[in-house]
Amino acid sequence: MIRSDPASSRRDPVAYDAVAKFFHWLVVVLIVAQFALGWTMPDIHKGTRPDGLIAWHLGVGATLISAVVLRIVWRLTHRPAPAALLPVLSLVSQITHGLLYVALVVVPLLGWANASSRGWSVRLLGLLPYPAIAPVGSPTAHAMGDIHGVLAWVLFALIALHVAAALFHRFVLRDRILQRMLP
Ligand code: HEM
Ligand code: HEM
Repeated sequence: MIRSDPASSRRDPVAYDAVAKFFHWLVVVLIVAQFALGWTMPDIHKGTRPDGLIAWHLGVGATLISAVVLRIVWRLTHRPAPAALLPVLSLVSQITHGLLYVALVVVPLLGWANASSRGWSVRLLGLLPYPAIAPVGSPTAHAMGDIHGVLAWVLFALIALHVAAALFHRFVLRDRILQRMLP
């Protein structure tokens, strides 16, 4: 809920700049693709080749890793104006955003480590190769594949909570929080 401040209802302070908005929505598109690919690609066993949908999951994943790194660098160097929220809502939103950022780093890293342990190359746009971050055959990185799948569900739950909050602001509280992230 936004505090009833006559000045804030007349004008919005600049919250997220165009670059921050671009990265937010680019990451949304890439994550939707990663869930769709992760849930529909064939089961992976010893000896599975990284073809078809699996290759797409790795390729989109490489783009996502770069987009998340750039997004975090931008965020650390460009602080948005704080939203005029009640302290309790401000705390809850900061915790949720923090957990989203952690999941945006950890989930892709676990998938990347698992790909490396299978000897699969992760390439940006299918061209620029990223380094392997785990030795081929590493049992730890193999287990990280399972954790990747489980934490993808945690990320999904966080996103569901985040989207529900955005819609709650827009349609129930009728404040301008959603507009802060729209073009
Ligand atoms: C937030 C982004 C990502 C999401 C939401 C996601 C989601 C998923 C899902 C749902 C699965 C299937 C899990 C299962 O059925 O057990 C999966 C598997 C996999 N993902 Fe991702 N993924 C993401 C990023 C990445 C990245 C960046 C890479 C590597 C560059 C990657 C590599 C893999 C690999 C290798 C598997 C197979 C793991 C195994 O079965 O052992 N993923 N992913
Ligand atoms: C993959 C899905 C999504 C992820 C991972 C995600 C992640 C994030 C993160 C980390 C922030 C905090 C930005 C910062 O302060 O640096 C944020 C802000 C925001 N997101 Fe999302 N988001 C997703 C989808 C959506 C969707 C679908 C909507 C709209 C329905 C939305 C609306 C917003 C809004 C309005 C803010 C700004 C909140 C504020 O003013 O404090 N997000 N998002």
